[in-house]
Amino acid sequence: MDNNENTRRPRKRVTKKMAQRRRMAALAIILLIFILGIILIAHSCSSDGDSNSDATPKATQPTTVVTTAVATEPVPTTTTTVPSTFDVELSDTIFYLEIGDTAISYINAYPDGSAEANEDWSSSDESVATVDSVGHITAVGAGECYITLTFDNNTSVYAEVKVVVTDPDGGDTTQATTEAASVTQTANSAVDIQEIDGITYVNGILIVNKTYDLPSTYNPGLDSETQAHFDELVSVAAEEGLNIYLASGYRSYEYQSQIYTNYSNLYGSETADTFSARPGHSEHQTGLAIDVNSIDDSFAGTPEAIWLAEHAHEFGFIIRYPEGKEDITGYKYEPWHIRYLGVETATAVYNSGLTLEEYLGIDSVYQD
Ligand code: DAL
Ligand code: ZN
Repeated sequence: MDNNENTRRPRKRVTKKMAQRRRMAALAIILLIFILGIILIAHSCSSDGDSNSDATPKATQPTTVVTTAVATEPVPTTTTTVPSTFDVELSDTIFYLEIGDTAISYINAYPDGSAEANEDWSSSDESVATVDSVGHITAVGAGECYITLTFDNNTSVYAEVKVVVTDPDGGDTTQATTEAASVTQTANSAVDIQEIDGITYVNGILIVNKTYDLPSTYNPGLDSETQAHFDELVSVAAEEGLNIYLASGYRSYEYQSQIYTNYSNLYGSETADTFSARPGHSEHQTGLAIDVNSIDDSFAGTPEAIWLAEHAHEFGFIIRYPEGKEDITGYKYEPWHIRYLGVETATAVYNSGLTLEEYLGIDSVYQD
């Protein structure tokens, strides 16, 4: 017992000074832990902020899947756009209707945060087709127009469906359409060629080239949707320090006739045919084509030409006469000539790497 008492450690005497030092040390440790905690919380918050800002631009990019078709000509490559949660896609790209017909295009995917209540449907020409607040389309007159879907709470996305309306009592027009369609189906069952009022649509796309022409009376002026998308292209290019401007837009049959005649007189018709369209055969008469900047070989290789080739499809345009495809398009390389097709089709053509003729499975050859 005594022995144990002797071996017990004597209680240390704590002076006032020592106790004060201990309190100070404890306070310093608590303060240090508190500061470390604040640093850790601040760090984790800033990481969250980065990942959100990364996510937004990624989500706005639709995923594009390119698949190669094995079955049939003439479109060896098809492109399917898988909508991201920020994008919107309709179930149809084109409707062929007769006056009085109705149709509805369903929304495959809504953009984030949008719902039926935010839908805003409109028609580019209500004398051709009208659309109500939920997307019911009614064909009212012969012609073509676009039905556009936007969202009042998300202006960065839109989708459109083209509507081609025919008049069943139109007599000769219907006859011509039926004949054109049946002849084409014999030649190539994958291509749907329709002629409406002398204007040719291949798979719903208005086509003008050496094979397909326009009536001399077709004078729509520059298409308003083409103009709007071109204006957007110009302003985005300007943000990158590039100067793109319209040098030649809509050209009437008569004006194209003057141009072609001048070139023929200067160079002979065989040479003129390699770069100038005969009247009725120019895309400029459709109101869907635009020449930009200097309309000559000096434009090739400029920063504007390079940017245009890489980005025109994002605004609905394609470079219509690409380099090395003269035998297919019928015209020499024109890096300045762009054709409006709408964003979806232009992107599909761009991704395919094909000319519009190859993409649709048609040719471009004068008959005489
Ligand atoms: N330069 C194009 C082919 C036209 O004349 O329409
Ligand atoms: Zn042109």
